[in-house]
Amino acid sequence: MIEDLKTLVNPQKGLVSRSIYVDRELYEMELEKIFARNWCFLAHEAQVPNPGDFVSSYIGEDPVLVVRDSRGNVNAFLNTCRHRGMRICRADAGNAAAFTCTYHGWTYGNDGKLVGVPGYKEYYYEELDMEKWGLVPVTQVESYHGLIFGCFDASAPSLREYLGDIAFYMDLYLDRRDGGTELIGGVHKWMMHCNWKFAADNFAGDGYHINTSHISAIKSGLFGSGGAPQRNLPDGEAPPLRYGVYAGNGHATNIFPGNGGLSGRLGSYMAEIKNEKDRRLGPERMPLSTGVITVFPNLSFHGSPSIRVWHPRGPDKTEVWSWCIVDKDAPAEIKEQMRINYLRTFSMAGVAEQDDGENWNQCTASSKGIISRRYPFNYAMGMRYETSNENYPGTLGPHITEVNQRGFYAHWSKVMNAQSWSDIKNAPDPVLR
Ligand code: FES
Ligand SMILES: [Fe+2]
Repeated sequence: MIEDLKTLVNPQKGLVSRSIYVDRELYEMELEKIFARNWCFLAHEAQVPNPGDFVSSYIGEDPVLVVRDSRGNVNAFLNTCRHRGMRICRADAGNAAAFTCTYHGWTYGNDGKLVGVPGYKEYYYEELDMEKWGLVPVTQVESYHGLIFGCFDASAPSLREYLGDIAFYMDLYLDRRDGGTELIGGVHKWMMHCNWKFAADNFAGDGYHINTSHISAIKSGLFGSGGAPQRNLPDGEAPPLRYGVYAGNGHATNIFPGNGGLSGRLGSYMAEIKNEKDRRLGPERMPLSTGVITVFPNLSFHGSPSIRVWHPRGPDKTEVWSWCIVDKDAPAEIKEQMRINYLRTFSMAGVAEQDDGENWNQCTASSKGIISRRYPFNYAMGMRYETSNENYPGTLGPHITEVNQRGFYAHWSKVMNAQSWSDIKNAPDPVLR
């Protein structure tokens, strides 16, 4: 039996039990309490631009089909046949007016309705109520600046309310140019032998690991002459606007001045779009970049530039889905440079991605030990050094801090202990100032 659920995370002391990364019972509880009732990223609108376009996705371990129906509405459905559970669409993406199950042939329209049943007269005697046996819809589907999210809980707040203050920082990627964003190429998918939370917590803003884990990449010049994105100012220099940010609702990021650590032509591109960024986002955000963002529970951004989802596949397995995301209005040569930068740094074969993955795999494996599990992790860095700034929402910590992770895990604990969304809304956030 797992420890008392309430004691697994202690945000006041910055302690987190190792059980939450390895325990099967807790993992099953996460699927129900976190993934089945929070907003999860499904797809980018650019993946389904035309009627009939579809793309496969997931919420937790539930396969989800995102499809733009023939009337132009984006819907999402459980990708499982109502007859006997066969996946009704096995392609990653495409265009279809209807989906025919390959087991017994039930056919669903791209609006989810059951429109064809082999033997409807001969074998069902016309007694099957086809109205009742359409695909199961994802209860709520909404978009934020091109990103489509889904939520299976009707009592969850709107997507905009759920995102809360992290939207202010997501806009640094998604809303800095008039044309918004698009994806380059397809999706990279790979399996890791780690718990999904190690990845989400790192991308919530772990500035601490960079000069250790990524030192070979830094020394080889992979991040340009300025070093790693978070380290392009000399140590000891502490300019304003250089913060770890816990934005509430489990979401976190880090922000710093400058062009996101992008050097060379990409750096000068960021300078070229300064005025447009200023006009769209205002003077507080114009000079800012963010290195990483995690939107609770499992969507992350990286300045490489990439968005990725950490799909849970068991307590010790994570399936990563990663895309290169670019400004739609960027010139072709910049998009190409961004694609190359993404491939080299943070993508399936990215040098820095390998560094991170090795850590998370080993952290998961070592936490399985029965003795190891008695010793909690330390997330106490920077406690009591949190601050706030009226121009920048959230609880701010020094740039190298663990306030991001304390917020992420405190929220995880809140959601895991809540019976309903009203419990989640009413419980205080111990990390938010
Ligand atoms: S499982 Fe789909 S038609 Fe039988
Ligand atoms: Fe890293």
